[in-house]
Amino acid sequence: MEGKGAHLAFKSRWCKTDEELCRHSTSFNLHKAIRNDFFQSYLYLLEWLPLVKLYALTSEVINGEMQFYARAKHFYREVPATEEGMMGDYVELSSTDIKSSREFLRKFVGGPGKAGTDCALDCGSGIGRVTKHVLLPVFKSVELVDMMENFLAEAQNYLRGREDRVKMYYCYSLQEFIPAPQKYDVIWIQWVSGNLTDKDLLEFLIRCKNALKDNGVVILKDNVAREGCILDPLDSSVIRDLNILQSLVKKSGLTILQQERQEGFPDQCVPVWMLALQKDANFSLKRGMCEWEAPET
Ligand SMILES: C[S@@+](CC[C@H](N)C(=O)[O-])C[C@H]1O[C@@H](n2cnc3c(N)ncnc32)[C@H](O)[C@@H]1O
Repeated sequence: MEGKGAHLAFKSRWCKTDEELCRHSTSFNLHKAIRNDFFQSYLYLLEWLPLVKLYALTSEVINGEMQFYARAKHFYREVPATEEGMMGDYVELSSTDIKSSREFLRKFVGGPGKAGTDCALDCGSGIGRVTKHVLLPVFKSVELVDMMENFLAEAQNYLRGREDRVKMYYCYSLQEFIPAPQKYDVIWIQWVSGNLTDKDLLEFLIRCKNALKDNGVVILKDNVAREGCILDPLDSSVIRDLNILQSLVKKSGLTILQQERQEGFPDQCVPVWMLALQKDANFSLKRGMCEWEAPET
């Protein structure tokens, strides 16, 4: 079975299982925990991994930390604080990535009705590759947030000569980070959204929305699955398809201004997409939250 057909077949199987499972059984509880974290993607994830293994890689809490996040930290401890490290050994694609990002950004900033050029936030910044090549050429000041202290320490070196315009280095996990309200013209989120669960990505997008100035824009750039959602146990990330991403965006009260596929990457690479997001003026929080809540089982 392939694609959506497989997913739908699986869905009906799981709905049935839901009804048949004893509500106090271990399976039921694991199933419920994963669905709470990955409410948009969990059926796809279950297509690839058995329930117990999936739970162990994602929702299981050990020493107070969800394995999905503990494993990512473990992975990034071994990643060098270099451009190669940030690009996951595809450093030769960095200049193509940067060129497209600059062109995409230009469409949404500086001009009547567009985002201003005062302040940008680079989320999951690593050593500041995006800050250096995409954001600093446009914005008066940039702030960085990343969970790895050593990456932020190296960023101070990597961004030498521009330190007066790099205003803050926040060492936080995005699932815990609260950007200041109405502070940023642009919030850039590149190659990190897959490191957040569906629930935490949705909540983070809501906080980003609140952190935007008038006409502000969130740029989400990431690997996008051709269909469904794939877990990469190595770096503890998920690759979502566009439908899943769009659905999370919609629930957050942001709307998609434009989306564009990154060109110039080799065919064997997972497709990369850029999405420009803005506050949805017609969004009602109540509606969004109702849609977000996982159905009671
Ligand atoms: C593949 S690197 C990309 C870095 C940068 N965005 C770029 O494009 O060069 C992913 C970055 O996300 C950070 N990261 C991963 N999970 C995170 C989380 N939950 N909260 C904050 N940062 C995270 C890693 O430490 C790493 O710096």
